[in-house]
Amino acid sequence: MDNNTPGTSSFPTISSAGDDPGLEMLQHNDRQTCGTPFLDDPLISCREIEVFYGEQCALHKMSLDIGHREVLAIIGPSGCGKSTFLRCLNRMNDSIEECTVQGEITLDGVNIYDKNVDVVPLRTRVGMVFQKPNPFPKSIYDNIAYGPRIHGLAASRSELDEIVTSSLQNAGLWDEVKDRLTSTAMALSSGQQQRLCIARTLAVEPEVILMDEPCSGLDPIATTKVETLINNLSECYSIILVTHAIEQASRVSQRTAFFHQGFLVEVGPTARIFTTPESRLTENYITARLT
Ligand SMILES: Nc1ncnc2c1ncn2[C@@H]1O[C@H](COP(=O)(O)OP(=O)(O)O)[C@@H](O)[C@H]1O
Ligand SMILES: [Mg+2]
Repeated sequence: MDNNTPGTSSFPTISSAGDDPGLEMLQHNDRQTCGTPFLDDPLISCREIEVFYGEQCALHKMSLDIGHREVLAIIGPSGCGKSTFLRCLNRMNDSIEECTVQGEITLDGVNIYDKNVDVVPLRTRVGMVFQKPNPFPKSIYDNIAYGPRIHGLAASRSELDEIVTSSLQNAGLWDEVKDRLTSTAMALSSGQQQRLCIARTLAVEPEVILMDEPCSGLDPIATTKVETLINNLSECYSIILVTHAIEQASRVSQRTAFFHQGFLVEVGPTARIFTTPESRLTENYITARLT
């Protein structure tokens, strides 16, 4: 496959758009994704990804690169395939029986769907943080130590202590929990629980962090803390952030991808997507969310 040729999948375009995007008449035309889906030196490279749930196609021949140490925001209406796309990147869709994934996804040049690839180490390299914080019903310490223990990342108790400390520090949670590491994680606030889940992901030394609407259940102060954290983490990790908040995408991401009905409509530098989108679909979505 020619990696430099943008995908030629079809996606819905507007045949008659009024002021109300809800009244748009959509039709399917053969069109290319607007913008710049391809990078010179990608960490992850997706080519013509198609995902089916049984007969239903949820992602249509999607091609998109993710760079080293960038935050890519994914925006789009509910049901457009954002979570499905994230799950492709660490093969979480494998556990959905009727789900099939076609196309090619490479991480550092290796096809992650190759039969020789073990999904357990893949999911440590490509970690995931969910919409609802999901700490284990264990102590704060044991939540963070769980991954390093099962992957044998620490040779001694003191090494494990170091991993727990640095993970909590890097997740911006250390000062709030350092005096109660043996207390249950379930007693933390939801904002703290979400940063704990991020710390748990960091503890197994990922390269990529997938975040699926990580702030949707958080108050504005907790949201700001997670956004600050995303900014800091992007110095070391590639982060793919699904968000419903346009303002959040503009605050934390360098690139933004707009999905619509399972199609990658447009992708490019966040500042450009939000000021001069090429696609009317993108423009209407952003305008409706900002007004
Ligand atoms: N486990 C599943 N089984 C069947 N259909 C699914 C499943 N998960 C998602 N879908 C369908 O795939 C499409 C995309 O869903 P999803 O990726 O969850 O969208 P988003 O995250 O953008 O809201 C939707 O039509 C949804 O109903
Ligand atoms: Mg979703």
